[in-house]
Amino acid sequence: MRAAVFDSGVGGLTVAKSLIDHGLFDEIVYYGDTARVPYGPKDKNTIIRYSLEALEFFKNFEPDILITACNSVSAHAIEELRQNASFPVVGVIEPGVVAVRNKIQDPDAHILIIGTRATISSGKYEKLLSAAGFSHLTAKPTPLFVPLVEEEIFDGKILEATMHHYFAGLTPDAVILGCTHFPLIADQIQKYFGPQTILIHSGEAIVEYLTNRYGLAPSRKETRLKLFASENPEKLKKIAAKWLGKNFRYSS
Ligand code: DGL
Repeated sequence: MRAAVFDSGVGGLTVAKSLIDHGLFDEIVYYGDTARVPYGPKDKNTIIRYSLEALEFFKNFEPDILITACNSVSAHAIEELRQNASFPVVGVIEPGVVAVRNKIQDPDAHILIIGTRATISSGKYEKLLSAAGFSHLTAKPTPLFVPLVEEEIFDGKILEATMHHYFAGLTPDAVILGCTHFPLIADQIQKYFGPQTILIHSGEAIVEYLTNRYGLAPSRKETRLKLFASENPEKLKKIAAKWLGKNFRYSS
């Protein structure tokens, strides 16, 4: 099986990593729109247009499924992608909410949703979480984390100050990492809130979702990875090699 994985930049590699770690696909074709990242500050129509352009690119590879490994795309362009694709399109928001339902029993639990402005302004997480019975929700755009991750700043003073800026006074029971860039700083977010706070990661959530809803079996020992970027693909490959570690098997 071949999956197309789409993100605005490098963040979707965190989802690709989970898919590879669990051996769900024979091949992953990854495309990061690095020339136009970030999508978070852009409006809905722009995100839809960029996403449909990415879909045209992916069609050349005849994927079995498209995974939008970007919350901003999942929040704004999923319907348009579905209308224009002849294969299933799966976003990261619904799997994230399913993961919350599986991990948290208390409907009064305080759930903090963090993401880009595009994701948070869509209200998608809140809508689905409310429908699932959760009522204590705080949704907060935290866009400064995106350039920090793109700059590979995963710890240290700038990140600490940024976390303080966004999180001061909050004591959530769970945090939805509603941006695929954020798993790269998950350790620091966990440290900030303490071990009792549950973190929900799009990559792990989607593996669970694909396994349960699409019956995908975690059976592959190796996944071929093809990497494409709209700008500076060499940088994407370097970052992938670093982040994916021993699982990085790039095929051109
Ligand atoms: N990876 C994108 C997401 O999950 C965020 C980065 C961006 O703003 O493009 O929303």
